[in-house]
Amino acid sequence: MKIFAYGIRDDEKPSLEEWKAINPEIEVDYTQDLLTSETAKLAKGADSVVVYQQLDYNRDSLAALADVGVTNLSLRNVGTDNIDFDAAREFKFNISNVPVYSPNAIAEHSMIQLARLFRQTKELDAKVAEHNLRWAPTIGREMRMQTVGIIGTGHIGRVAINILKGFGAKVIAYDKYPNAELMSEGLYVDTLDELYAQADAVSLYVPGLPENYHLIDAEAIGKMKDGVVIVNTARGNLIDVDAIIAGLNSGKISGFGMDVYENEVGLFNEDWTNRDFPDEKIADLIARKNVLVTPHTAFYTTKAVSEMVQQSFDAAVVFGKGEKPETFVEY
Ligand code: NAD
Ligand code: COI
Repeated sequence: MKIFAYGIRDDEKPSLEEWKAINPEIEVDYTQDLLTSETAKLAKGADSVVVYQQLDYNRDSLAALADVGVTNLSLRNVGTDNIDFDAAREFKFNISNVPVYSPNAIAEHSMIQLARLFRQTKELDAKVAEHNLRWAPTIGREMRMQTVGIIGTGHIGRVAINILKGFGAKVIAYDKYPNAELMSEGLYVDTLDELYAQADAVSLYVPGLPENYHLIDAEAIGKMKDGVVIVNTARGNLIDVDAIIAGLNSGKISGFGMDVYENEVGLFNEDWTNRDFPDEKIADLIARKNVLVTPHTAFYTTKAVSEMVQQSFDAAVVFGKGEKPETFVEY
């Protein structure tokens, strides 16, 4: 059996070598290039391909892959939002993803952003770098004194809740489909409005599905407490960034942490040293002392990367045998 992988980064190679060592019977070939209609031909002769990219899996690239006889596609990440499912259906693609690789990676990152915002560490670091070692006015807020609203109590939201319990924060949560185990803990509120009214901070863990588009807009922010802190490590399209900027300008929002951005493709995971950002809003946000921007790196830990590689290659083997992996994506 042969597997061909696209977009393999240097940091993935050790995990791939480990996987190859325990699966010596599988022939593996790869490229650093992403899957496009041009590069699809590299997979000729493979039983399955393994991919990760933010670039779209569009009709042209799927058609080109089908043209060389490959219709098994194993994603090395969770999100399937960049797949042209109409084209995938037309060319009869079997698709798998890695729905759970390390929820802790993302949950920890979001809680680090939250804690940093409460303690104003960005401002403090800047002051210290300028040799200003005065305390005031950079006073922090203790986590145990805060009510934190968690929206979405799936894999990642639940780990965030556990971390918050360690800090001693009061946690409230909202989910369209509440988790049975958490129900008994009495954390759930019945509506988002209740969560907005009570929470000192709101952190998002829901998928970026069309129905969740701009879940946090001016109206939602208007229902939140004055001085609310908002963290989004889920998906950029959940947030209307203009409404966030307006809330930061008015002081309604006292801190904003973001790992994802609606227009992040082509912006994040690029080096902009000595160049202006092509997007004024991100430049504005990055310049603010009460805004933390990370370039979609919440997932980026050694554990998560290793899980993403190993689980996606395992799924590709199952496809290669003509079977359905557990991580099969129904569409
Ligand atoms: P999950 O599917 O396990 O949980 C999502 C939860 O959201 C579910 O319980 C669902 O019922 C709930 N939900 C959906 N829409 C809702 C709504 N409108 N209101 C309330 N609840 C709603 O997902 P997960 O694995 O925990 O992922 C959470 C988010 O993190 C996703 O957006 C995912 O894309 C994102 N993510 C980010 C990174 C990163 O590196 N920043 C990495 C992986 C995942
Ligand atoms: C996902 O797995 O969907 C993510 O958001 C992380 C991705 C950048 C690899």
